[in-house]
Amino acid sequence: MQIIIFDDAQQVAENAAHWVSELIKSKDAPVLGLATGSTPISLYKQLVAKHQRDQLSFANTTTFNLDEYQNIDAENSQSYRYFMNDNLFDHVDIDKSKTYLPTCTQSENPREQGLAYESKIKHAGGIDLQILGIGANGHIGFNEPTSSLASRTRIKTLTQQTLTDNSRLFKADEPQPTLAMTMGIATILDARYVLLMATGKGKASAVKDMITGPLSAMCPASALQIHENAIVLLDKEAASELDDQAYYLWADKENRKVNQAFGLFHNF
Ligand code: PGA
Repeated sequence: MQIIIFDDAQQVAENAAHWVSELIKSKDAPVLGLATGSTPISLYKQLVAKHQRDQLSFANTTTFNLDEYQNIDAENSQSYRYFMNDNLFDHVDIDKSKTYLPTCTQSENPREQGLAYESKIKHAGGIDLQILGIGANGHIGFNEPTSSLASRTRIKTLTQQTLTDNSRLFKADEPQPTLAMTMGIATILDARYVLLMATGKGKASAVKDMITGPLSAMCPASALQIHENAIVLLDKEAASELDDQAYYLWADKENRKVNQAFGLFHNF
């Protein structure tokens, strides 16, 4: 794992945007895995700015989102489709027909929908770079604690902690979905690179478990310990429970020398 600690959340977003834009520029047909939630909003702002200011083009990019609530319309402002349009897709030159989310209505078989999503990802050539946040309970996507480390795209019942954490986003009269389709942990591990962003004190304990805890279904993000190219971008608060911060800062300095000389990505 490459662990990079920044002074604040703004620097996390700027650095994440650098990774994404370098990926987009390095491939003819890049495939991005995207995340929703509060954390990546600042990343999407940076990407929109790069599009407007530096002509970063998304025209050849295909995207796959991690998750989507079951049985929710794209027009519903709580849907992740709406979130992605609002925060990124409507503001860049992406072809929306190449932007995918794991949708599933009540009348559809979630197992078939999950398989179909997996084959769409395969058909696109696999995900080059998967953006991730982390839940306070260590979830990635909606892979809640006890999710199989070998899981694939499927329907999940959200935990009470996730429902409580996300309730801030719902108005009193808005029903909060309790089921969601999510890429599995094995789906995420298949991405060539994963880039996890975590900011704020509320994530510090989950971040510590992810990096130094045992590989365990109780902390789904700990699965990134066995990923070949996992990059973790943290602000000081999210890193605050890590013991070895001085080592991570030193290792980052050394990694930057390699990246500057040879580029961020290899294996493509
Ligand atoms: P957040 O969610 O960015 O809203 O904190 C992260 C997650 O649950 O994956």
